[in-house]
Amino acid sequence: MDMLQVNSLSKIYGGKVTYRALTDIDLTIREGEFVGIMGPSGSGKTTLLNMIATIDTPTSGAVLLKGTNPHLLKKDKLALFRRRELGFVFQDFNLLDTLTIGENIVLPLTLEGESVSVMEERLQSIAAKLGIQEILDKRTFEVSGGQRQRTAIARAIIHTPSLLLADEPTGNLDSKSSRTVMETLESINKSENTTMMMVTHDALAASYCHRVIFIKDGQLHNEMYRGESRQVFFQKIIDALSFLGGNNYDLSTVRV
Ligand SMILES: Nc1ncnc2c1ncn2[C@@H]1O[C@H](COP(=O)(O)OP(=O)(O)O)[C@@H](O)[C@H]1O
Ligand SMILES: [Mg+2]
Repeated sequence: MDMLQVNSLSKIYGGKVTYRALTDIDLTIREGEFVGIMGPSGSGKTTLLNMIATIDTPTSGAVLLKGTNPHLLKKDKLALFRRRELGFVFQDFNLLDTLTIGENIVLPLTLEGESVSVMEERLQSIAAKLGIQEILDKRTFEVSGGQRQRTAIARAIIHTPSLLLADEPTGNLDSKSSRTVMETLESINKSENTTMMMVTHDALAASYCHRVIFIKDGQLHNEMYRGESRQVFFQKIIDALSFLGGNNYDLSTVRV
């Protein structure tokens, strides 16, 4: 089944000088698929993700999630849609420092008015999966970057969204934490069959995806499927990136 369909999506930013950030993007993501989006800095990756996340509106074209175009929904319906169908993970974690780790994770359920017993049960089960049971009563500043990102992932999936969207989830992490976070996303994708789309310029992170789509100058460039070996895929991604050009890759992200 197709989970996400993007049809002929274009984005032109307005203002004094208009800028064409995306041109005629067509993209289909199947249920349970884990897709990476890569491309040089400024190629339109975040713009694409923001259109799908309904954080920003397309200039033309359509986004369909399970057949619904969220951009056509009225404000209240859109808020519900976003809360129920989507999960978000960002580079800077976006956790609330006044809450404990556990309180951060159950926030989406709190907003849904879920009962305390259901929340507690979901919390324990997700924390166990992500290996963060020990830190649920801690504050955000008492835990490591990797633990913060796993907390953000727990919060993003606790309400079992149709689509998990991540923008540079390993961007602020050292390589060891990056691996743990990617292994976490991979195992959630497998066990929950959560459909995932991740923007990254980190070849190691991308190598955990089933498929990586490369964009350049706001247009689809090519795509590659992972196949059997993550190590082989990692090398193919590195080669594709150097072929794609762009001088803004961070060399620190090139690691095996
Ligand atoms: N709000 C905005 N207004 C005008 N231009 C923007 C805005 N956001 C992004 N851009 C431009 O659109 C292009 C794509 O940006 P972005 O999607 O953030 O790229 P990426 O995430 O691939 O680095 C860039 O040239 C950027 O400067
Ligand atoms: Mg970006």
